[in-house]
Amino acid sequence: PITKGLVHPAHRLYQNFWCPITVLPNVIAFRQHFKAKDKDIVLVSQPKSGTTWLKALAFSIINRSHFNISNTPLLTSNPHEAVPFIELKLWPDLDGLADPRLFATHIPYPSLPESVKQSDCQIIYICRNPLDTVEEHSWHFLLEMARSEDQPDWSLEEHFETFCQGQVLFGPFWDHITGYWKESLERPRKVFFLKYEDLKEDVEGQLKKVAEFVGLPFTEEEEEGGVIEEIANLCSLKTLKDLEVNKSGKLLGGIIEKRSFFRKGEVGDWVNHLTPSMVDRLNSIIQEKMRPFGLEFKMC
Ligand code: A3P
Repeated sequence: PITKGLVHPAHRLYQNFWCPITVLPNVIAFRQHFKAKDKDIVLVSQPKSGTTWLKALAFSIINRSHFNISNTPLLTSNPHEAVPFIELKLWPDLDGLADPRLFATHIPYPSLPESVKQSDCQIIYICRNPLDTVEEHSWHFLLEMARSEDQPDWSLEEHFETFCQGQVLFGPFWDHITGYWKESLERPRKVFFLKYEDLKEDVEGQLKKVAEFVGLPFTEEEEEGGVIEEIANLCSLKTLKDLEVNKSGKLLGGIIEKRSFFRKGEVGDWVNHLTPSMVDRLNSIIQEKMRPFGLEFKMC
């Protein structure tokens, strides 16, 4: 039986989203004090939606004049070390980053600092179809995290239930996605909206679009020289997963194994894990909360 009204002991509802208690002070400091620069580039996602991949791709696009494939820091640092999460660092640390500053956050659009919204800084958002996201949340990632002390002893069904009720890190997941989706429609120069499934289908095509969006389009010379392909290969799941730096050790405050960020990376793996009634439940949430905004996802 599922216990109704479950509340995760390590999460707090802050400004209508579920924030990990451990990062709440940083989130508040970021909101209150952060001054965005027009050249800043902010990567945003919900956990388990392709954040690691986006960090590697965006880092490679933006720094390609400094590093080539043989000396990129991505060979010796995990993408989460190369591109910091704002909520895991105290915000003044960002002052040390060179322009364009590249950093990441899971914070929902309404709760971003005003200077991020008002300045000309740009946002790249990645999301993933909710069925694969919940599968990853409930079955793999949370089981991994369940070994840490602040995780409740919930069954998989209870994790699923709380996800559907919106109680998921930085969620409700539908509000997170539709918040950035609406902004991308209203301000296409401000927010670039990416889907994990589109990246899987045509990573090079999406790389070109992202490079144009941030004002660093690939030159003909680069295209002919195979730079786009090189970046796609470097950032592929296989390459990143096989790098020594990504095989062992922990990240994000020491609670998550590096290797748990690199798993299968398939679209549609949910068919192996979700029951028909779970799929029905999620589909009705998608129908109610996301379709009205014209949002569609490739599910397999
Ligand atoms: P799966 O659990 O379906 O394999 P995040 O980075 O937001 O935590 O998302 C993790 C998901 O992205 C995992 O999905 C992981 O395998 C996948 N992933 C990580 N790096 C990737 C890459 N370079 N290419 C494709 N998928 C990747």
